[in-house]
Amino acid sequence: MRTVLGIETSCDETAAAVVVDGRSALSNIVASQMTLHQAYGGVVPEIASRQHLDAIADVVARAVEPLDDGFRGLDGIAVTYGPGLVGALLVGLSYAKALALTLGVPFVGVHHIEGHMFSTTFEYGAWDYPALALIVSGGHTDLFHIAAPFAYERIGHTRDDAAGEAYDKTARRLGLGYPGGPILDRLARAGQPDHAPLVYRPPLIPDAPYDFSFSGLKTAVLRYIREHQVAPLPEGIHPEDISAQAPDSIRNLAASFQRAVVNTLVGVLERAIDAYHPRLVVTGGGVVCNTGLRQALADLAHRKGIEIRVPHPKYTTDNAAMIAAAGYARLARGERHDWSLEPAPSLRLGQVPAEHSRHFRA
Ligand code: KG4
Ligand code: ZN
Repeated sequence: MRTVLGIETSCDETAAAVVVDGRSALSNIVASQMTLHQAYGGVVPEIASRQHLDAIADVVARAVEPLDDGFRGLDGIAVTYGPGLVGALLVGLSYAKALALTLGVPFVGVHHIEGHMFSTTFEYGAWDYPALALIVSGGHTDLFHIAAPFAYERIGHTRDDAAGEAYDKTARRLGLGYPGGPILDRLARAGQPDHAPLVYRPPLIPDAPYDFSFSGLKTAVLRYIREHQVAPLPEGIHPEDISAQAPDSIRNLAASFQRAVVNTLVGVLERAIDAYHPRLVVTGGGVVCNTGLRQALADLAHRKGIEIRVPHPKYTTDNAAMIAAAGYARLARGERHDWSLEPAPSLRLGQVPAEHSRHFRA
């Protein structure tokens, strides 16, 4: 088992990648549907499925291009089977099964969040244990304790919105378009957080010290917008012109919001580091692109004398290289799924449902 094709279609990216020995990405093709969904302010499931169907064959063909033998050079196939949009997952899973059957190679389903955890593998290699993993994306804000390979214990999760969702909703309220993370990040860099003070303290949830919550922040932002009469940008501004046209009031609010999100995330992580004494922290998910969060994680690593691995930006948002890397680790230890594997839209990591566990032969 050396060369694994990864396929990822859980949300609005059609992605395929070829990874060798679990850590060298020969290709990493991502066809984003973002502009299609932008008009609706979020991902429309039916549009996503149809786009995946249109794109999948071409995306996979481009991913295997660097292989001398093309498809024949593949030793295994890994595919996201949950969580995600059921119709979207079905496209990647069906394609992966058909390809594995045709080529006579094993295939394995991968949990999307486990994929995000492997996104630091390309630059840093294998993990040390025990480890903590902080995954922060549009759909998830989760903290895991990992005592040994594949022993995932979710110790914290968001009680309401995911951090990326908080970015997306705040951006929408300010007329900044979708997705909100990149544009708010850019505006935050040009803003003064102290000029837009929010009535907000990172929550500490009783009996759940590693859980997150962003609803209080959402309320604080709303109140600020109302009290200071911050007007959203008018509709119709081209996405590339937004950051130049945003007034200082929006830049300052972006900076203040970003500081609050980062403090919430880093505060919980710091508590978990103090309690679990991990040898390593890995991070992943679209929000880990955030420049403020990356800086705060570097500061935390320095302060605690611990290694915190942050993936290269091209591996933070959804991609298939991370799925291939996670799939390689599972295939290499003998795990396989059979053809009856179905999409699992609300699959929980560390809690493989009974109907799926029978497929594992390891
Ligand atoms: O991991 P991902 O591509 O998809 C999910 O699995 O959800 O994450 C997408 C999320 C979106 O909410 C987007 O706004 C956010 O990641 N994001 C960011 C940044 N870049 C993307 N959030 C904050 N700062 C960024 N620079
Ligand atoms: Zn993701």
